[in-house]
Amino acid sequence: MKYLELCVMETTRKYPGLPLLNRMCNKDYPLPNSKLVLEKGTEIIISLLGLHRDPEYFPDPLKYQPERFTEEHKNYTPAAYMPFGVGPRQCIAARMGKINVKIALTKILTNYTIETRSEVTEIEFTVNGVGLLAKGGVPVKLSKKLKLINVQ
Ligand code: HEM
Repeated sequence: MKYLELCVMETTRKYPGLPLLNRMCNKDYPLPNSKLVLEKGTEIIISLLGLHRDPEYFPDPLKYQPERFTEEHKNYTPAAYMPFGVGPRQCIAARMGKINVKIALTKILTNYTIETRSEVTEIEFTVNGVGLLAKGGVPVKLSKKLKLINVQ
């Protein structure tokens, strides 16, 4: 279950279902090292996908590497990791969302063998809508595991 947690963390890093956060500036904010000022009332879109795939915060960002989140490695910038958002408007169901994903994964892994197609090494996204969706789905093959029956 510890490794499953790391996998859910890494999956929500590399593929944040909601790839952006939106906020409204509530006071004038001079941007550091520039003459620009973000004025109060400005609507801001923050690219979560961009942050989560920035090599400055997550070394080798395209590599799927659950171990990056372990205590011993911890080679990432925690402040840049926000799959459920941050602050007073962060996701109200972060725990529930994670538990649902883990239950679904546990059921699938218990009952099915999953095979990937070796020629597919990266998931492409669709450009429709706000959520991050895999273009044409995720190409995996599920085979039902046989149940052993004790015949006496
Ligand atoms: C793995 C599943 C989920 C992910 C990755 C996710 C992600 C997010 C993100 C990134 C935000 C924006 C937070 C921000 O702006 O700081 C959000 C907001 C929200 N989420 Fe989720 N969410 C998930 C599941 C759920 C579920 C299951 C529910 C409801 C049962 C839910 C309800 C909400 C609500 C109501 C908000 C708006 C909160 C507010 O504006 O105050 N989410 N979620």
